Amino acid sequence: MEVVIKNTYEEMSALAAALIADVVRRKPNCVLGLATGSTPVGTYKELIRLHKNEGLDFSKVTTFNLDEYVGLPPEHDQSYHYFMWDNLFKSINANPSKVHVPQGMAPDITAFCQWYEDEIKKAGGVDLQLLGIGGNGHIAFNEPGSSLGSRTRVKTLDDRTIADNARFFKKKSDVPRYAITMGIGTIMDARQLVLLANKETKADAISATVEGPITAMVPATIVQLHPKATIIVDKAASKKLTHEYPAEPRVLRR
Ligand code: GLP
Repeated sequence: MEVVIKNTYEEMSALAAALIADVVRRKPNCVLGLATGSTPVGTYKELIRLHKNEGLDFSKVTTFNLDEYVGLPPEHDQSYHYFMWDNLFKSINANPSKVHVPQGMAPDITAFCQWYEDEIKKAGGVDLQLLGIGGNGHIAFNEPGSSLGSRTRVKTLDDRTIADNARFFKKKSDVPRYAITMGIGTIMDARQLVLLANKETKADAISATVEGPITAMVPATIVQLHPKATIIVDKAASKKLTHEYPAEPRVLRR
């Protein structure tokens, strides 16, 4: 696991986009795992710029999103489906038949979760998975206590996650209680992980993830076991790290 500290959110986002673009250029029909939340918005902006200015081609790329709220239809402006189209897909040449976001309205959620796992396998597995991190150390919607070997399934959201995400809804009680999420095992199967965090509100979670013991109580700590993982943070999110970390990843220093 490699940790990279950037001065600003913009620099963090540019590096994340460069890592993703590198995979897309080397393997035009790659499979990307994508994330939602406020953290990756800058990365998506940079990918859009690379598409528009440098012709970065997404037409053969397959994508799988990490998670979706149960009970929100795709057209709901807080659904992750809506978020992805609004923040990325509509502005690049994404092929709608290659884009996958879990279906929060699936009539049989258990069957849907198995289908999602099968589709990821059929696509050849995820080449690069982008991740944010919750203030409580969750990845996707794998809340503290999630099995470190878990697969795609429904999770009940923690009170902290509901409180954190309430800012996107009119009122806290509008935040869905359940979500479909890729499991921790599903995420760890990706060939490369890129985890992003900015702002001081993530400093505790990043300190535990990078320098703490691996524990299901901080699901992101599992990333320590991944053979090719890069954690990119801004200065504020790095505040509680005690070791020294570089400003460039090995992969771009070659
Ligand atoms: C949600 C998502 C996570 C995301 C987290 C952090 O809970 N399910 O995938 O990492 O929010 O969100 P933000 O980036 O807005 O801090």
